[in-house]
Amino acid sequence: MTKSILSALAGERLPTPPIWMMRQAGRYLPEYRATRAKAGDFLTLCYTPELAAEVTLQPIRRFGFDAAILFADILLLPQALGADLWFETGEGPRLSTVTTPADLARLKPVDAIHETLAPVYETVRILSRELPRDTTLIGFAGAPWTVATYMIAGRGTPDQGPAHALKAADRATFAALIDLITEGTIDYLSAQVAAGAEVVKLFDSWAGSLQGADFTDFSERPAARIIAALKARHPGLPVIAFPREAGSRYAGFARATGADCVALDNSVDAAWAAHHVQTDGCVQGNLAPHHMVTGGPAMDDEIRRIVSAFSGGPHIFNLGHGITPDADPAHVQRMVDRVRSLS
Ligand code: CP3
Repeated sequence: MTKSILSALAGERLPTPPIWMMRQAGRYLPEYRATRAKAGDFLTLCYTPELAAEVTLQPIRRFGFDAAILFADILLLPQALGADLWFETGEGPRLSTVTTPADLARLKPVDAIHETLAPVYETVRILSRELPRDTTLIGFAGAPWTVATYMIAGRGTPDQGPAHALKAADRATFAALIDLITEGTIDYLSAQVAAGAEVVKLFDSWAGSLQGADFTDFSERPAARIIAALKARHPGLPVIAFPREAGSRYAGFARATGADCVALDNSVDAAWAAHHVQTDGCVQGNLAPHHMVTGGPAMDDEIRRIVSAFSGGPHIFNLGHGITPDADPAHVQRMVDRVRSLS
């Protein structure tokens, strides 16, 4: 039997779209909160293979999603490259910053990353043994621009100001950081595939703040380089790219990068995307995460509209961004049931 996610990624139009959900292992689930409490803190959870595998499996057991996404974080790679990383409770990630050639020189060479990331590969190995046979295992990494925004600012930022500032003030250091992350991402994702990931996804969460030539140079080009290198090492590997809030630049993104599937955020109209993005292959998305908080007929209507808009081609149903901690698991169950009852 061919897994439905892999069929969709190969360009097949299925009678019912396969479904999974960004951040499907997370704080909206009581069983996640229990395992997270047992681990003590978020990074310990990420680096303890048995516990990371357990939280990856929880939403599969509960909802029977068609894909499981490795439980980890996009900021583990900067840590493996030598950045300090910690999470401030209630606030989010904090990192030591990279803004000068000296900061860049202090980072480790790419081949040193596996020392830190070995437990992540072990999580992948456990999952490839324990997942149901029809569930696809997705590995992931942050795209270079998005990872760079955190490394430069040392935290999440509303407008990625510090990264834009470095790009303007010291283009050479900025470009060298992007190159280092690009090379690290190739090796990191390649190791996930060697351990058993069947698909990989690149999260460019802040792609929408890049304009014009910057979008080409720092979102499309690094993605194209990563995807080409991965496909050379792992022929046939399907890749999902998520240039979040790319707007009109979603059109042509798959062709520019070689991605097999483009994940759409919920600012994109599904009917527009069917004509301008799905024409190049599979699309993933794009229900607004707030429906997982509110549910009701508005959620049902929106699910029907999205499934119908993408019914002419390959589509993987998902949210337009990660599910939030205040979501109701009952609404998630209802979404899965609705998607599976539509065709
Ligand atoms: O999707 C999944 O279920 C897989 C696991 C996953 C996590 N983070 C777990 C996580 C994935 C794919 C990510 C990606 C990630 N991490 C992104 C890109 C996608 C996106 O959301 O835009 C980004 C920007 C990060 C960085 C990050 N990690 C931030 C800004 C935060 C804090 C915000 C928050 O939600 O708390 C995290 C923490 C994080 N990563 C949590 C989880 C489940 C919450 C931590 C906790 O349990 O306390």
